[in-house]
This record gives sequence, C-alpha cells and structure tokens, in this order.
Amino acid sequence: MMSDEAYVLKIGQSRIDINAMTATGAFYALQSIVQMAEKSRNIKCCMIYDCPRFGYRGLHFDVSRHFRTKEFLMKQMDAMALVKLNRMHLHLTDGAGWRIEIESYPRLTEFAAWRPYRKWSDWWSSERNYCESGTVGAYGGYYTKKDIKEILEYADRKHIEVIPEIEMPGHSDEVIAAYPELSCDGRQYGNCDLCPGKEETYEFMENVLEEVMALFPSEYVHIGGDEASKERWKTCPDCKRRMQEECLADVDELQSYFIHRIERFVNSHGKKIIGWDEIMQGGLAPNATVMSWQGTEAGISAAKAGHDVIMTPNAYCYLNYTQDAPFKEPESIGGYVTLDKVYSYDPVESGIDKDAASHIIGIQGNLWAEYLPDDCMAEYMYYPRAFAIAETGWSKEENKDFGNFKNRTLGLLQLLRGKGYKTFDLENEYGERKESLNPIKHLAVGAAVDYSIRYDSKYPATGKEALADGLLGSWSYGDGRWQGFLTDVDVTVDLGEVKPVHYIGATFMQIISAWVYMPEEVRISVSTDGGTFSHVGTVFRDFPATVDGLYFKTYGLVCDESCRYIYFQAVRPQIDGAWLFTDEIVIN
Ligand code: ACM
Ligand code: ZN
Repeated sequence: MMSDEAYVLKIGQSRIDINAMTATGAFYALQSIVQMAEKSRNIKCCMIYDCPRFGYRGLHFDVSRHFRTKEFLMKQMDAMALVKLNRMHLHLTDGAGWRIEIESYPRLTEFAAWRPYRKWSDWWSSERNYCESGTVGAYGGYYTKKDIKEILEYADRKHIEVIPEIEMPGHSDEVIAAYPELSCDGRQYGNCDLCPGKEETYEFMENVLEEVMALFPSEYVHIGGDEASKERWKTCPDCKRRMQEECLADVDELQSYFIHRIERFVNSHGKKIIGWDEIMQGGLAPNATVMSWQGTEAGISAAKAGHDVIMTPNAYCYLNYTQDAPFKEPESIGGYVTLDKVYSYDPVESGIDKDAASHIIGIQGNLWAEYLPDDCMAEYMYYPRAFAIAETGWSKEENKDFGNFKNRTLGLLQLLRGKGYKTFDLENEYGERKESLNPIKHLAVGAAVDYSIRYDSKYPATGKEALADGLLGSWSYGDGRWQGFLTDVDVTVDLGEVKPVHYIGATFMQIISAWVYMPEEVRISVSTDGGTFSHVGTVFRDFPATVDGLYFKTYGLVCDESCRYIYFQAVRPQIDGAWLFTDEIVIN
C-alpha cells in the first residue's frame, strides 16, 4: 500500500514532476528538493520513489521545565518539516509548571505556571513552590487557547501533528499545588502523585482532557504515566478503599485502574492514549500505545502483545544527554549520546517477528529541558541529532549509511545556522573520552581484586575484574565499564607477587544531577604479605560536591613502594542516595 506520505519526484532537464497521493507527499517532495538545492546550486536530474519506513517520526518538547514561546515552536517545526519529522510531542504539564490554559481550572495558569526561580538547580534545591502570576520575579508562562490554535494552524501548514501530553498520575506537583484536594493527604506541597482513590481526580482529569481534546485535532493524547512514586497510595484511605472495592492487589494495579479509566474516557471521544512505558505496570490498558523510554524491552513486549509502540529508548533517543565531551558541552543531565549513536539505532531490533514489528509505528527524539533554560540551548541539543531521528524514522535500515548522512548533515546544519538556529558544531566534534578508546597497560591488569564491600548490582560493569581489566570508562557511567557503589569502595588488589610500585590511583566521576559524587577521600595502604598494611597516603577531595555538570577526577599518589597487596578505600560522601563510580585502579 502506498503511504500517504510517499512521493515520486522526477527531475528532468527542463522540468520537475511531483506525483503524490496527498498534499503531504507533495510537501515532502518539495523538502527533498530544498535539501538537494542546499547541497548544490545545480540539482541533478534524477528519479526518486520515496516513502517512509515509519508513520510516526516525532520530536518531543519539554515546555514544562522551561516555557517556550509559540514562535520558538513554529521555528522548530520549520526544521522538523525539512527532514520530514511529522509529530510534535508537547510535554505541556509537569512538576515544573503547567503550560496550557484550562478554562475550568484557572489556578493552573494563574499559579501553577509560575515559579520563583528560573535556574533548575535553584528551584530544585528550594521549597519547590510556585507563585502567583504577576509576582515580581515570577518565571514561567503558558499557552492560551488562542496560542494553541496558532501553533496548530502552523503545524498544519508544515504537515505536523501536535500531540498534547497531560501528565498523570505522577509528575503532578504543580496540579496539586493549585488544587491540593487532588492529592492523597490534601497538602499543597510534598506530593507529586494525584490520588487515584478520589473521584475528584477523575472529574478533574476528564474536564481537563475534554478541553484539551476539543483543541487538538491529534488522534492521540499522551497521558504521561511515568515515574509515579505511588508511596502515599499505600496508606491513603481513599486509595485503600478504591483498591478494596475494585479488587486491586497493589498500587501498580491501582495505577493501571486509573489509566484504564482515563483510556476509556479518551476513547469515548474518538481518540487514543499514548503513555510512557510505566503504564504497563499492573496491566496495560487495551488500546494504549506505549512510548518505550527506559530501554526497548517494554516496547517489544507491548508490541508482541499487539499494542502499538513508539520507540524512544533513552540510550539512543534522549537528546538531553550530552552529544560530545562534557568538558566542552553545556551542563546536561549526564549520559552520552552522539549523532552516530542516535543514527545507529534500529527501532525494529533483530529477533522481533513480523507481527510485532508491524506494531512498532515509529521513533521519537526526546529533549528534557531541566538544564536548558535558553531557547538556543535547546536548539543546540536538537540539531543535528533530530536529523538522525528523522532519517531513522524515514529510511529503510539497509539504506542508512552514517558517512553519507554525516556529509548531508553538515550541509543541513549550515542551512539552519544561516536561518538563525543555534546548532552543535559537528565539524569540531571532540568525541569519546580518549582514555577509553584503547586498553591501557599497568601493573594491576588481570590482578585479583578482593571486595570487602561488593559493587552495586545495578552498575556491576564487568564484575570483579572491572577495576583491573585495563579498560577505562567512557563519558557515561552507564557504559558497562564504570562500576557503581552506594557504599564506600573498599577493595584489595593482589599483584600476585611483590613488585616495585610507583603510582596508585583511580578516577571518579561526579554528576550530581544523577546523584553521582566524588569520594570525600581515598586512602591507600600497601602490604607485602596481605596481613600488615602500611599507609601510603590519603588523597582528599579538592572539589565541591555542589557544582552542576559532569566532572572526572583522578585520586592518585606517586610513591616508592615494594608490595604485593594494595588496599584502596574511597569514602562515600554522607549524602542519601549518593553513588561513587570508578573505572580502574591503575598501578604502576
Ligand atoms: C521519562 O523520561 N521520565 C519519560
Ligand atoms: Zn490517595
């Protein structure tokens, strides 16, 4: 079947013919001509039959953490259309601020759309309150219904469907600040989850969705569903009553009940829900589309069960992760996702059968905006990685070629910069942490490492060999080379025989937005017999545990010892939930 978005483009000596079943197809033929014309003043004669691999090719906009103007969104639609991205996912509500006018609940925009701090870490480390619109210093904003209509009219011209997201039942701190009666304990602050026990919560969400659905023509409403804590639900009398009445075994099933009800309401208005993959917890609503973000397993299992799925695994599609060496990049939430990495992703992994594959309807790039207060910073993170999302969404896997794509991308970036976009400087990409590219040699490679406290099972790296395998970590603590500890690091390295030792050290990483900290201090002692140890020295932290950003620091000592055993202790800071990450104990 010919896709509505397909086109045939015939460029001859004296004329160009475009054939398409729909205006969208013809529009995409024009975008291809624009791209070709950008590369060269003379367009070559050619014949192109083109159709997309996936119908859903999305880009996500977190306008809750930082409000963006409608003009910003329209500007991004221009860039999206150029690369045939066709879905704009608007994350309109979250704990950081409510961003859409709802006539029946005016406090959402009089109050819950404004906060007293612009900078994320300032607000996060404060009481996380909101403030009245018009208060001096109030930071935020929202789209009026008129704004939304303008955005939608523009989107229509660019053949883009705008999908509104209204978060529930978690990430709803701002809703509760405006309407505290919707939380379990009725308190204005300190709650992020709505109460699924109370009938008022359903009444509120239905009224909000009614207004939202009347405004957006999209076939979908995204209802969030991610990261609800569910903690208060365990003790809330309303939640407990609901669970008893509905025979729900646990809070996961309570969430599932909530999502099922919301789905029925949305379906009764002729629309479908999308939710983050947590909506599968406790049982997935029958017609829901899953946005698989925590990896691909959830998405694959939903697709196998016959649900439509949009793939957006964070390891490939989270554009808020740094795209180059963190020391030269703006502050980010951590992670390392290069253009190459995004491009390498295939939404239909090998081993997925045809039936399940038919339910994988597309891909989306997500940009969470905590650390991106300025519009130009958001653009910098989108481009060029959004192009890799677009091409992965459009082109068949066998037609993808990174070298060719990168070449075209350099041209597209120039085009965007000429139009006033801020983009990443792909020409001067630094790349991966150099130390991690090749194995290193040192005295302890292959040595036995004895753990008096084991590494955490969430970040084992390669296990008990990891700290002496000659492999240094990359920019990302999740790369399988960094070993994670929720305790002190307390290990003894056995060199096998007494050897002269002149250096002992290990590198740690800090990214406090991800709860990863440098150790307070590292104590090093040595022994010839494994019984009596002599202290070589202590390396103290000379780096604040408060600065935002991603940093690496080696805690090392130059020494002149003769020993077989090295006792290495890294002291974790006394901060709840603090991680230590190290990749290798280097001994020379
Ligand atoms: C998400 O990143 N919490 C969907
Ligand atoms: Zn409750």
